[in-house]
Amino acid sequence: MTKKIFSGVQPTGNLHLGNYLGAIKNFVELNNDKENECIFCVVDLHAITVKQDPKELRNNIRETVATFIASGINPEKSIIFNQSKVSAHAEAAWILSCVAKMGWLNRMTQFKEKAGKDKEKASIGLYSYPILMAADILLYDASHVPVGEDQKQHLELCRDIAQKFNNDFEAENFLKVPEPLIQKEFSRIMSLKDGKKKMSKSEISDLSRINLTDDKDSIINKIKKAKTDVSPLPSNIKDLEKRPEAKNLLRIFSSLNNLSLEETIKIFEGKNFSEFKEKLSQVLSEKLEPISKEITKLMNEKDFLDKILLDGYKKANDIASDKVKKMHEIVGF
Ligand code: AMP
Ligand code: TRP
Repeated sequence: MTKKIFSGVQPTGNLHLGNYLGAIKNFVELNNDKENECIFCVVDLHAITVKQDPKELRNNIRETVATFIASGINPEKSIIFNQSKVSAHAEAAWILSCVAKMGWLNRMTQFKEKAGKDKEKASIGLYSYPILMAADILLYDASHVPVGEDQKQHLELCRDIAQKFNNDFEAENFLKVPEPLIQKEFSRIMSLKDGKKKMSKSEISDLSRINLTDDKDSIINKIKKAKTDVSPLPSNIKDLEKRPEAKNLLRIFSSLNNLSLEETIKIFEGKNFSEFKEKLSQVLSEKLEPISKEITKLMNEKDFLDKILLDGYKKANDIASDKVKKMHEIVGF
């Protein structure tokens, strides 16, 4: 069965191992399957929900495209574009914001986390962010949306919005209700400094994450400094329950080697962290160094990156403008 894949990544810099293992690695696999039609969007409209420096934003948009390509997404087989260029996204988001309910948005935990204690100072965009995300997905009749665990709630909201639109306007199946594609074991990669916190672009300490642009020496240094505990590595998953840092590092190793957590535990049971960390740094360097080098190379080929975005824009715009036109008719414009 052909799957229509849609996903987005914010061009907010510091793309890291969490983005890679939780989302981009999966994009590459989906892109490699001939059956799938894939669309990967650089969601710059989402990025400006928190303040961005325009110069950096422009650079980060290109760096996100470079990361997609360097990770193995083939622009001949997938549509890669930036959201702001396809005006249907903003337009559909407005229409859908008149369908979605305040009560639904008030439940979104990401807004609560990102807005922090002083909600009054958060932008309206940060609050309505999940509606724009729903518009992104629904404009392309996406059947499957690969994301990390943190986006699960937004996808449930997207499904609710699609169903409500279809019901309100008696337009059965007009907006396709999408399925999330969340990697079971690796959907939430944690900080290297605190196994209970998500690895994140916005964390102040750079030692908390492996960036996709890190070189071998920084990888070795960050893994050396990664938080652990004093016990040797356990022989079963149950014993990892109260050891979030150990679990996270073992998960990273598993994902990079396409092993299950159980298989990795078998390899390292009874070993101490120094031995394991050495092996982990080795596989991280092996997998990430080619990506990091390719990103650097591509960032010097701006015309090439811009051409990918332009080609992607044309294809995406055809699909999205057609869908939004139909939305207009259904709504009564
Ligand atoms: P963002 O950079 O917030 O646009 O996220 C891009 C993709 O990476 C989304 O699918 C996120 O769910 C995923 N992601 C971000 N951080 C992590 C993490 N620490 N672990 C797993 N997936 C993540
Ligand atoms: N909100 C997502 C994130 O921060 C990015 C995103 C925007 C997205 N639009 C999307 C992901 C549509 C999947 C589908 O990670």
